[in-house]
Amino acid sequence: MKDPITILMDEHRLIEKVLGALAGLADRVESGVDVPRREIARFAEFFRGFADRHHHGKEEDRLFVAMEAAGMPREGGPIAVMLHEHDEGRAHVRALAALGEGEGPLSDDDRDALISHARAFVPLLAAHIAKEDNILYPMARRFLSPDAFVELERTCEEYDADTERAAEADRLRAVAGELVSAWPAPDGPLFSGGCAGEPM
Ligand SMILES: [Fe+2]
Ligand SMILES: [Fe+2]
Repeated sequence: MKDPITILMDEHRLIEKVLGALAGLADRVESGVDVPRREIARFAEFFRGFADRHHHGKEEDRLFVAMEAAGMPREGGPIAVMLHEHDEGRAHVRALAALGEGEGPLSDDDRDALISHARAFVPLLAAHIAKEDNILYPMARRFLSPDAFVELERTCEEYDADTERAAEADRLRAVAGELVSAWPAPDGPLFSGGCAGEPM
């Protein structure tokens, strides 16, 4: 059985793949390809349901709660930065969802909005993930006592075992697979500049 931090990192790998697909979709739109709204809606569905509700939900309701209980402040520290970035991402996903729900073919303004939200959201979430992988999660491993880590393991297992949530996460993993094969990611990194040593 994988520990909760490893499971969260596995979820990051899937989210990164879909971020790559979204970057690919934005490139295609920019080069004049017609993209059905339904595809944009499916990206919003994945990011809202899996990246946010499932993954950020587990971080916010389990991991961050455990780190706070162990004495890490919620305000003014790395947890505050992570929460702020979750919120920033939500605003972009709301905009993508609105484009997905619109009627008829995309207008020029819709295309511009799609490109600018995708171009802002992809590096935001990719850099966020790198900060968690390289800074916050290792910090959690060091910061939580062995007992607190066992308790985190228990609460995360309970979170992932919820039948309805698990079924929805599996359904969204399948959506992710379809998006990744439909929209090949451009070459190169999802965001520029390393962040492993950057202060949060
Ligand atoms: Fe996060
Ligand atoms: Fe995360």
